[in-house]
Formats: sequence, C-alpha cells, structure tokens
Amino acid sequence: MFLHVPDVLTPGEVRRACEILGQAPWKDGRITAGEQSAQVKNNEQLPEASPESQELQSLVLAGLERQPRFFSATLPKHISPPLFNRYGGTANSFGNHVDSAVRYLRNGAGRVRTDISCTLFLSDPETYDGGELVIESAGGQQQCCRLPAGHLVVYPGTSVHRVEPVTRGYRLAGFFWIQSMVRSLEQRQLLFEMDAHLIRLRSTLGETDPSVIGLTGTYHNLLRQWLDV
Ligand code: NI
Repeated sequence: MFLHVPDVLTPGEVRRACEILGQAPWKDGRITAGEQSAQVKNNEQLPEASPESQELQSLVLAGLERQPRFFSATLPKHISPPLFNRYGGTANSFGNHVDSAVRYLRNGAGRVRTDISCTLFLSDPETYDGGELVIESAGGQQQCCRLPAGHLVVYPGTSVHRVEPVTRGYRLAGFFWIQSMVRSLEQRQLLFEMDAHLIRLRSTLGETDPSVIGLTGTYHNLLRQWLDV
C-alpha cells in the first residue's frame, strides 16, 4: 500500500524543523545501515541521541497524531522514533536496498518489526533537484515520490527502494518504521478501504442509520479477528 498523507506538519513546523536541521551535527548515514545497505548508502544522518533529534521527534509524532487516515491505514502497534537525514553535496544518494526486518531501539528500549516504512519530506522541492524516493514492487513497477515539505509517504517495508542522487541543494527528510497491529498487508488494505467507505456512509446516512451501525460492527469484529494488540 502506498499512501500519501499531506500536511503532517504545518508550514510553521516545517520551518522550525529546517531551522533545527540547518544547525544540526550531521554524521555519516552509515551509522544505522546494515552491511549490505552500507555499500550503497551515501547520505548524512542526525545522531539519535542529539537534543535536535529529540525535539524533531516530538514535532513529527505530534503531527502524526492529527492524521486519522494515517492510523486507519497503518494501525500502528509500535512506531520507531523518527530519524532524520540529509542528501546533498558529495553525500547525495542511497542505492537500491531493503530495510532490515527489525529495528532495535536505542538504550534497549525494544524492537520494532518494520512492516511499514515512512518518509516525511521536509525540504521545499523547489530548493533541490533529484532526490526522488523510488519504490519497486515485486512485479517490477516503480512508484516515484518527491513530495512537498511536510507531506508523508507510507509504503510496505518489504519493498526494494532507493533515493536518487540530489544534484542541487539539500534534501532533508524524516523517516521511521511501523510495526502494525495487523501483520498482513492484504488485511490492512481491506480494513483501510472498509474504514474509508464507512466514513463516507456515516457522513451521508448519519451515525444512527441501522446499516451504518451494523457495518461499523462488522469493521470492529474484523479488527478483533485480525489485530494483535
Ligand atoms: Ni531504506
């Protein structure tokens, strides 16, 4: 499932994020890469323990809280604390790779199975060239993403993906993973579609329409079948 969630951050929050990242202590992005992806990873990353990281994490997590569609689509059990990266200059790309299946959190704070990957674009697309996030599906099709600042893309953690070289300016982004309460992508997709239809039905027929109540029950009963909480 590919989902574009617009306006996760307000323009003011995007400005604040870019201000923080403008003075951040960037480090070689290979600090969190596995052996295979370290071969193709050439970007910079913000150290997780830095105060800049902490402030940005709160900003992003608060932004996500305002997005019911994000929750309906991902049904998160755990969200890994967002990390932040920068592509530009000589550290400007990340070749084809797959994300590791498990993300170990800092200070032994637990693990997140990476069912879903998320990228939050932070730079105004006018200020840089290149930097497309290209996501390949098993069938060989490609999704190519280059979103406005403050917008999020959600895609399956199982996909091979890359970031094309940035040839002008800097591309700043946040990224994180989600372990979903519903492990199966297919089941998650069905639940997301059903929820979207239900929201429309509730607005046209009203909350107390017997079919709306009945179908809401069916949605929750499916959740009960499939959720691991
Ligand atoms: Ni990746």
